[in-house]
Amino acid sequence: MPAKPSTDPRAAAVEVLLAVLGRGRSLDRALAEHAPVDGDGRDVGLCRAIAYGVLRHHRRLGAIRDRFLRSRLRGRDQDMALLLEIGFFQLLAMDVPAHAAVSETVAVARQRGKPWAAKLINAVLRRFQRDGDGDGCLAAVDADPAQRESVPDWLLERLQADWPADWPALLTAQNDRAPMTLRVNRRRVSVAAYQQRLAAAGLAADRLPGFDDALVLQAPVSVEALPGFSEGDCSVQDAVAQLAAPLLDAADHHRVLDACAAPGGKSAHLLERSWPSLLALDSDAGRLRRVSETLERVGLEGECRAADATTPDQWWDGQPFERILIDAPCSGTGVIRRHPDIKWLRREADIPRLADDQRRLLEALWPLLAAGGRLVYCTCSVIQAENESVIAAFVGDHDDVHVIPPALPVGQSVGCGQQILTGEAGVDGFYYACLEKR
Ligand SMILES: C[S@@+](CC[C@H](N)C(=O)[O-])C[C@H]1O[C@@H](n2cnc3c(N)ncnc32)[C@H](O)[C@@H]1O
Repeated sequence: MPAKPSTDPRAAAVEVLLAVLGRGRSLDRALAEHAPVDGDGRDVGLCRAIAYGVLRHHRRLGAIRDRFLRSRLRGRDQDMALLLEIGFFQLLAMDVPAHAAVSETVAVARQRGKPWAAKLINAVLRRFQRDGDGDGCLAAVDADPAQRESVPDWLLERLQADWPADWPALLTAQNDRAPMTLRVNRRRVSVAAYQQRLAAAGLAADRLPGFDDALVLQAPVSVEALPGFSEGDCSVQDAVAQLAAPLLDAADHHRVLDACAAPGGKSAHLLERSWPSLLALDSDAGRLRRVSETLERVGLEGECRAADATTPDQWWDGQPFERILIDAPCSGTGVIRRHPDIKWLRREADIPRLADDQRRLLEALWPLLAAGGRLVYCTCSVIQAENESVIAAFVGDHDDVHVIPPALPVGQSVGCGQQILTGEAGVDGFYYACLEKR
């Protein structure tokens, strides 16, 4: 049983990490369950910073730890192993006074009833603090790219095979903190005017060339601090995800299907740009509610339906769609910088299963596209097997597909589609393909 929520940010971070790495919880859910209960905003912030940082650098921190220990800690002491990672992370990468980092971390071991570990952690962290990298420990750990960049072996091998020239920069970008990017609701306010409103509120934000509706905040803030957020003047969405709506190019008279719509970011964006009639589907009814909430907040309307897009006989009225968006379920490897838990929760065996699901979505929905209509397929994955391989095989099997090379402001052409690798122009990793029916 997990311990009851702690008030101490480091103790809470241990619980968050145990939930993710031990019990396979998502980081968002683990934080919702274990973030400090009655701490002030600073404690929650510190817990989050530690949890994100340790998950980003988990393998590297673990390798450093193991060089300091004579023998590995037992399975039931995984909390202490993670506490050591928390200690190293603070000393290496956080702006916390070293003496506080050590003493507060050691205190957590005592609170958890492990005085023997408190002594051990104190000795190890103080040795590291005193000697620094005197014995070349960091260089030895970092000689192995899987340790340096903290990725599981399977993912490293996959990215090396897929991106022989780009994988080092890609891996580094995956460990960077992502910017907070806004999508301005052009129906309500121009980007230039909204940028001025942000500036008047003390929030500096920059345009991103090629991304019509995007503003990148120079520092993240809570959405409550964004002028007009609750009235729908802006939404939070990475700039690369803002390329779907212009690529889909829906007109007012079109019937549009957003087949995998939740939580609704792309649905809302395409309705902000034109007035098509929209059917937003998602197989997850809980997530679909967020689409309705999103559309309500930005003041737009679409039909939301909980349904499996691969079984159209259960929900399709037989009228073809001029536009279909498949923002397919995927590994999420393009958004690891926002969700570092993905590195440790995804398994290699997930990839062929996801590729099957992606292919089934394409096969099921292609017949619903009107002649001359357009289907945009995208994922937030940087793994070819979920992207270009799926599309190339689909195109090869269908005579009525015309590939339109997407003209995007970022990324590289990879055959039919365009791949954006995480960090290019500061955006998330994504894949886009655009198919027209002859
Ligand atoms: C990448 S997310 C979509 C993000 C969304 N387009 C946005 O911009 O906010 C993929 C979604 O596909 C949904 N999904 C997975 N399989 C599905 C299926 N067979 N039919 C409909 N939705 C599905 C998942 O529940 C998930 O919400």
